[in-house]
Amino acid sequence: MSVLRLPAGLTILALTLAAVAGALGAEKRLAAPAAARRAVSFARDVQPLLARRCVACHGPDQQKAGLRLDRKADALRGGDTGRAIVPGTSAESLLVRYVTGHVPGKVMPPVGPRLTAAQVDALRAWIDDGAEWTEAAAPAAPARASHWAFQPPRPPKLPQTKRQDWARNPIDRFILARLERERLQPSPSADRPTLIRRLTLDLHGLLPTPAEVEAFVQDRSPDAYEKLVDRLLASPHFGERWARHWLDLARYADSDGYEKDLPRPYAYLYRDWVIHALNADMPFDQFTREQLAGDLLPNATLEQKIATGFHRNTLKNREGGADPEEDRSKATVDRTNTTGSVWLGLTVGCAECHTHKYDPISHREYYSLYAFFNSAQEVDLPAATAAEQEAHRQALARHAADGERLAAALATFEREQLSMRQAAWEKTAVGSEALPESIRAILRTEPDQRTPAQQAALAQHFRTVDPELARLTRALAEHPKKAPAPPPTRAQTLAESPKPPATFIHVRGDFLRKGEPVQPQTLGVLPPLSPTSGTPTRLDLARWLVDGRNPLTARVTVNRVWQQLFGRGLVATPDDFGVRGERPSHPELLDWLATGFAGVSSSGFQVSGSANPKPWSLKSLIRVIVSSATYRQSSRHRPELEARDPKNLLLARQTRFRPEAEVVRDLYLAASGLLNRSVGGPCIRPPLPADIAALGYANSVKWTESQGAERYRRGMYIFFQRTVPYPMLATFDAPDSNVTCTRRERSNTPLQALTLLNDPVFFECAQALGRRVVTEQSSTEARLVHAFRLCLARDPSATERVRLRRLYAELLQLCGADAGQAAKLAGSPLPAGVSPVEAAAWTAVARTIMNLDEFVTRE
Ligand code: HEC
Ligand code: HEC
Repeated sequence: MSVLRLPAGLTILALTLAAVAGALGAEKRLAAPAAARRAVSFARDVQPLLARRCVACHGPDQQKAGLRLDRKADALRGGDTGRAIVPGTSAESLLVRYVTGHVPGKVMPPVGPRLTAAQVDALRAWIDDGAEWTEAAAPAAPARASHWAFQPPRPPKLPQTKRQDWARNPIDRFILARLERERLQPSPSADRPTLIRRLTLDLHGLLPTPAEVEAFVQDRSPDAYEKLVDRLLASPHFGERWARHWLDLARYADSDGYEKDLPRPYAYLYRDWVIHALNADMPFDQFTREQLAGDLLPNATLEQKIATGFHRNTLKNREGGADPEEDRSKATVDRTNTTGSVWLGLTVGCAECHTHKYDPISHREYYSLYAFFNSAQEVDLPAATAAEQEAHRQALARHAADGERLAAALATFEREQLSMRQAAWEKTAVGSEALPESIRAILRTEPDQRTPAQQAALAQHFRTVDPELARLTRALAEHPKKAPAPPPTRAQTLAESPKPPATFIHVRGDFLRKGEPVQPQTLGVLPPLSPTSGTPTRLDLARWLVDGRNPLTARVTVNRVWQQLFGRGLVATPDDFGVRGERPSHPELLDWLATGFAGVSSSGFQVSGSANPKPWSLKSLIRVIVSSATYRQSSRHRPELEARDPKNLLLARQTRFRPEAEVVRDLYLAASGLLNRSVGGPCIRPPLPADIAALGYANSVKWTESQGAERYRRGMYIFFQRTVPYPMLATFDAPDSNVTCTRRERSNTPLQALTLLNDPVFFECAQALGRRVVTEQSSTEARLVHAFRLCLARDPSATERVRLRRLYAELLQLCGADAGQAAKLAGSPLPAGVSPVEAAAWTAVARTIMNLDEFVTRE
């Protein structure tokens, strides 16, 4: 009997009705005139009928219930329920049962007039004749396949521009040509202090030091800017900054999620893998293969397996009643959807429960993608770091030495002390009632009268009673149990399951309702998988994603990089390049970047005559973008653009925006001098209001505040507990990390201003900055300028100087009026020779500058 898709409450009724309908069908088959008597032609009678009445819903654009009736293979395979056409047996064919209205509520076509008796007869006769399907000449190209994003990017011709003195590289020609069409001029370059602050923020998420600003401003060589870019790209902080962008996509967090939300103390191994891969400029194709299928690479290293942690960042439900298969299915759905968003920029997840309503992704194809991940299992591998292994080795050696010492002590004791102790014991033991009679008899015998057998028996007995011997023997026996445990460090990885389950369509996305079986396969609208021997694997999928013929991966990736550097992608919907997504503002520029990035274009990112950079190099991509005149423009507001281009799509200027939550924290730490710049390693736990941790499940959230320098590490190292995100991060729009995030929100709320003013972490930074300027400079004027340079990378203007001096004078007075409050404000320790009142005034000045809009803005 066919599976009916009806609300649960109606199931029983439906089954009854279906049984009745089935019986009717059988009757009707007997009664019906022999349909096959009429000679039918597929091309004349059947195909036009299907095309006219069915293909709108069961064709290239939509595959209702997973059924496609415009192509032979699809039609004969059937839909989600199974075969719709059973050649030779029309009565058993779902298609006939539907068109004849035998299944209540499922009359096909559901719109327009019912098929006529003659049309039904033609279908039945054709099926009874064996359902011959003569494929006409090439089927018409599916309409959706013509969507721009499914066309392979081609290196475009560089446009001509009237103005010749502006463009620094091809990017600028595309931007300028468009501006000229709109009769707009680009903005002049930003000044050098702004440029170095912008670049340091974009590439490191940190601030340039006053010395770095000074050196760049003074550098008169023609390639001063390029040298700066290269220096920043070479720093380990580059990897940190761009890893954080990638971690948004990877929905990285340090706990399981769901109610229990157990910690994942070693999730950071994957995070550090990303940092190192980006610092090493691992080509993006390799970066992709290792994260999706590192375990399947030949002779996979531990590092390559750690890379598969990308798809271990899925939530995990460890509640008692949770169904493990349901949880596994949810994780697999998330892996499928995330892969679709991150690499293809498609809302693949919309096809989990029904064929995609807009893009050419059928319900069946969804589960074919799902099948790549369905064969994977979660494996936690021992992954001790070199230092941990060395510490363990040393502990083992110490333990072995201790064991030898214990053995030696026992031997010495037996050799040198045992007989003396026995003699002493014998004196006290004579006549003891507690001893066995045989021993008492020996003791009654004079020592020199005892036979060797008696001596041996006595010595043997003494060994059982001597407490010191017992102590030493026990210590030796128990020593192996105290062997140091191997380091607990475990990497979360994926590996192929030895017994992979078969994959079925989940009818309506319900993992309990199995539809047709499916094999791993990629989307039909995109170029095919390279042929492989046997069932395609995750590695084949990864290779397909970064195959030069794939029209999406490179475009989607360069678009996200552009988004980080301009605040908005060339395609404004980074996760939706489908028909409902935004179209690119500069399609040719997007393709120039994509083909250069993927190494498809022979010119690559050839800038200023340098050799072709290696393909898929993120650093080369970033270098070419930040080197453009477009990127270097001033972000200054231009009133004439307000009406013409309010969203700055045309890029007649740079964009100013607030950097991400983690970077907001880093800015404060960097300016104050508190920042601990160490890269990678276990997470930290900065101060958290006490009642926040209590929000976690059954008081399970243990937030042991980090001490010393650990407190001052970058925001990206803060332990991310999914159910209790660190409040400052949440306030500044950090993603919840439950699903992939391709674009962060940027909200503006009073809570943000209050956090920066009053949160103890930020207040401490203001105190530290106050102390710093007092220590590093001696005159009031020099201190004010220094504070400004540390925070804003520039000198105060004349007006700003006047205001700052006035502010300082007022604060000095105010603090002087209440010494107690002043001491609190100043904090400790006070810089040598500075009064609490003075230090307090500097804290307040620092706090003022750090709360300027400009401080938390990337201009
Ligand atoms: C207006 C859209 C529309 C048209 C036109 C249409 N169908 Fe359907 N078809 C559907 C929908 C929706 C379903 C899923 C119904 C359900 O299961 O609730 C479906 C399901 C089916 C199924 C069941 C497939 C499975 O595996 O579950 C068959 C068979 C089918 N249609 C045949 C046809 C035929 C034959 C025609 C043309 C004569 C046709 N349909 C025309 C919308 C349409
Ligand atoms: C968890 C299951 C599930 C997911 C995931 C899902 N849908 Fe649906 N959707 C349904 C159900 C159930 C219906 C109603 C029945 C139907 O039309 O198949 C529906 C109906 C729709 C409809 C209206 C019906 C029609 O035929 O026009 C649209 C549009 C739609 N979904 C779009 C989407 C989009 C876009 C996404 C992804 C963002 C999505 N759906 C993801 C379950 C889902």
